[in-house]
Amino acid sequence: MDVERAAALLREGSVVAFPTETVYGLGAAALDAAAVRRVFALKGRPADNPLIVHVAASEQVEDVAVALRGLARELASAYWPGPLTLVLDARSDVPAVTTGGLSTVAVRIPAHPLALQLLQAAAVPVAAPSANRSGRPSPTTAQHVRDDFGDALDGLLDGGPCAVGLESTVVDARGDVPVVLREGAVTAEQLGARRGSDTALAASPGTRYRHYAPRCRVHVAPVGAGAETASRLAAAGARVGLVSPAAAPQGVVEVARVAGASDLAGRLYGALRAAEDAEVDVVVVEAVPEQDVGRAVMDRLRRAAAG
Ligand code: TXA
Ligand code: MG
Repeated sequence: MDVERAAALLREGSVVAFPTETVYGLGAAALDAAAVRRVFALKGRPADNPLIVHVAASEQVEDVAVALRGLARELASAYWPGPLTLVLDARSDVPAVTTGGLSTVAVRIPAHPLALQLLQAAAVPVAAPSANRSGRPSPTTAQHVRDDFGDALDGLLDGGPCAVGLESTVVDARGDVPVVLREGAVTAEQLGARRGSDTALAASPGTRYRHYAPRCRVHVAPVGAGAETASRLAAAGARVGLVSPAAAPQGVVEVARVAGASDLAGRLYGALRAAEDAEVDVVVVEAVPEQDVGRAVMDRLRRAAAG
């Protein structure tokens, strides 16, 4: 499908998946309540979990939120287009289905060239959660989207694998200091941000749900101990997969060899899906140090391993 066709579909209220630099999004016109409701239905997403609205240019923020000023304006000019989402005061005409009934709205300009072309051609703000069925690992290739939705979508733009591989950093940008609600490739350190308190996090409903879970168990091994942990679990009789910088020991399925935190960020969701395809009982993922993008990686890994 080409960009013009995809843009026309969005304008007429259809649902189209498209690539961003973080993960694939499942898009619908943000001000079209019926279109956004279809996104929730397709994903099986809880109604109180609001969507991120994607725009092509900073001026377009005003279609859904108050004009950028102060901190929000600084962050937008420093990081857009890019993997940073700003929570702003919403305009009152944004449908409640898009904001999850909140008085705020989350907005970003994605950096993927195809996403920018699509948003420019559509000329409407596009609400898009990650294009996975609710609870599944986020999609980082068009094939992941097809695996979850088959031909249930109105359209899918294929832009190849996503460069970042983890969802955008979400910050509340309404005050004087940014408050991080979800970690991502843009780090709290870079932003000079505070990490959200439990109260702040409670205001970001997505953080309440179990996420990123494949159909097999996920076991997080300490840094440097992936192979040894996998061997131990295999010796106890489980079919075990390994995601680690080290080679898989005998009797363990090598799911992915990764070189450090940013490589793991890009490949984590694909590896979790590959572990399912390999029909392992448990996939051992070796931890990375909690610095830079490693924080976001460990956040997603812990969620995948929980429950
Ligand atoms: O990288 C990304 O952000 C991807 C791509 C497609 O842009 N999108 C994405 O959307 O990850 P989703 O729906 O999977 O995650 C949206 C997150 C959730 O944690 C949600 O709770 C939070 O953003 N969020 C959305 N609106 C919010 C608001 N008004 N206040 C606080 N948190 C909000
Ligand atoms: Mg998601």
